[in-house]
Amino acid sequence: MTELSLLYGTAWKEDRTPALVELALRAGFRAIDTANQRRHYFEEGVGHGLAAAYRAGIVTRDNLFLQTKFTYQRGQDHRLPYDPAATLSVQVAQSMASSLAHLGTDYVDSYVLHGPASNYDWTDADAEVWEAMRRERDAGRTRVLGVSNVSLGHLEQLAASGAELPAYVQNRCYARLGWDRGIRQFCRERNIAYQGFSLLTANQEVVHHPLIARLAASAEATPAQIVFSFARAVGILPLTGTSSAEHMKQDLASRDLALPFEIVQAIESISG
Ligand SMILES: NC(=O)c1ccc[n+]([C@@H]2O[C@H](COP(=O)([O-])OP(=O)(O)OC[C@H]3O[C@@H](n4cnc5c(N)ncnc54)[C@H](OP(=O)(O)O)[C@@H]3O)[C@@H](O)[C@H]2O)c1
Repeated sequence: MTELSLLYGTAWKEDRTPALVELALRAGFRAIDTANQRRHYFEEGVGHGLAAAYRAGIVTRDNLFLQTKFTYQRGQDHRLPYDPAATLSVQVAQSMASSLAHLGTDYVDSYVLHGPASNYDWTDADAEVWEAMRRERDAGRTRVLGVSNVSLGHLEQLAASGAELPAYVQNRCYARLGWDRGIRQFCRERNIAYQGFSLLTANQEVVHHPLIARLAASAEATPAQIVFSFARAVGILPLTGTSSAEHMKQDLASRDLALPFEIVQAIESISG
């Protein structure tokens, strides 16, 4: 597994998924995010893209970070990766087996609960799924576990239940909510890595802000690169799901863009 600095997200790519995954790996991405949720992701297509990259000698499985997710039935369409009549524990095992088959591997690096069962509480259903995910981890089918689309309340209830904490939290990151400040603090205090998605799409007021335009012009960078670089500076591991070869290069190059502390503070105070 390589050091993580940027995840390539594979949502909403449908038939273009294999080619875009291969293109992303050619461009230099070494971390891939997907989900066994056919409604938004074509996980089998991700596997085809990986296989093409292996054949072309671009990368080996050992040099990749692969992350996928377990999604409750309420987040799926009719194309389920498990028997909906089975218990949640069995659904997790079936979904994982299907993910490994799709991705052509016998382990993933991170296995994420796509979202809790309730928007408000960490429920008994989540506790059962989390325990089943832990068994997958203990059996070696994933290196670590994560949770996504969680509130601070979810995380506090999970912690209070005495269950193991995740290695990753993956959330939509809104500048107007202080870039998910409360959750990022919870994560920092517990050594949980925070992954942020929709950094550009959810924060258009930042992307188009005059300060960002000035910074981009003086650094000979794009506003998107400034946002990704800022995100890393405050401890957010960014995701990008770009379909553009040019944007792939730019997003990867943002890793070389270091922003001074005062600039990071100024960006943080644009909204939220
Ligand atoms: N856990 C969850 O529930 C969840 C939910 C949503 C997403 N995700 C994950 O996060 C990944 C990323 O999703 P996202 O919501 O952040 O959106 P995204 O798919 O990355 O879309 C971002 C938008 O920004 C544009 N963009 C990317 N790089 C750019 C650049 N350098 N300059 C200008 N525009 C750029 C893209 O356009 P171009 O294609 O033209 O570059 C696209 O329109 C997904 O693929 C998925 O893996 C997870």
